[in-house]
Amino acid sequence: MDLNARIDDAVCRAIAIGRGGVAPAQLSEALDYATSPGGARIRPTILASVAMACGDDRPGVTDAAVAALELIHCASLVHDDLPCFDDAELRRGKPSVHRAYSEPLAVLAGDSLIILAFDVLARAAEDAPRRGVRLMRTLAQCSGMPNGICAGQGWESEAKVDLAAYHRSKTGALFIAATQMGAIAAGHDPEPWYELGDRIGEAFQVADDLRDALMDVDALGKPAGQDEAHGRPNAVAELGVAGATGRLRNILAGAISSIPSCPGEARLAQMVRMQSERIMPDAVRHLA
Ligand code: IPE
Ligand code: IPE
Ligand code: MG
Ligand code: MG
Repeated sequence: MDLNARIDDAVCRAIAIGRGGVAPAQLSEALDYATSPGGARIRPTILASVAMACGDDRPGVTDAAVAALELIHCASLVHDDLPCFDDAELRRGKPSVHRAYSEPLAVLAGDSLIILAFDVLARAAEDAPRRGVRLMRTLAQCSGMPNGICAGQGWESEAKVDLAAYHRSKTGALFIAATQMGAIAAGHDPEPWYELGDRIGEAFQVADDLRDALMDVDALGKPAGQDEAHGRPNAVAELGVAGATGRLRNILAGAISSIPSCPGEARLAQMVRMQSERIMPDAVRHLA
């Protein structure tokens, strides 16, 4: 099975758990709607690639980690699109969950995906208790307070924003989770993997700021120009387009050199290069 199919399969199996039994039909359907066909799946791709570079000796545990991480990511988008946050009507080229279903169902779908993510890891922990518990703790840290997605979204309610903390919590945290959970799933120490996740996360946020400023809604599949519209601090406002592009290239170069030594290091470097190419917005390829 190729990596994309493996990720799809892991996410679908997790969603099937949430949709089992006698469940309310619309909420059940909304779980599927929020997670498939899915977006770029970059976080689970990184997680699985790190696990494979570390030997992937418990593929079932890796699959659980892959699904849990993607479910948290999808939940964060469902909540992020709600009227009380970004009030976005489109996500991945289709109506956002609250537009397609309703606000109450979008709140509940996001909540259900978050809970399901931890349920999936708890199930994996029955066979691999130490890895399962470490995966749960890492995912919790990257999702909640004080440094996870909740914190990142919370910065938007402060009068004065710490830009680095805002970006690291909002976006970087799940990339740090991706590299660290990949290592944990394969029985490796997660600590040396922090830097790689941190760098890819920072690069991803700069690239997302460039896309938001330079692309349109049809190309993005989600509303464009949001940072300016909501007055959000962002790399383009801070550095300009050329400056942000230069910064993006610097961070990506640093990412490759921060890969810890591991059995599959060369292949992982190739994967990081490939993901870097995907991250780079077409509109700025000719710059810097
Ligand atoms: C969007 O992430 C949210 C940000 C952190 C900018 P992605 O661009 O990875 O979203 P999908 O999953 O591919 O739609
Ligand atoms: C979303 O951030 C990141 C989350 C924590 C959900 P943005 O609001 O900047 O991303 P998009 O543009 O909606 O994907
Ligand atoms: Mg937002
Ligand atoms: Mg948004």
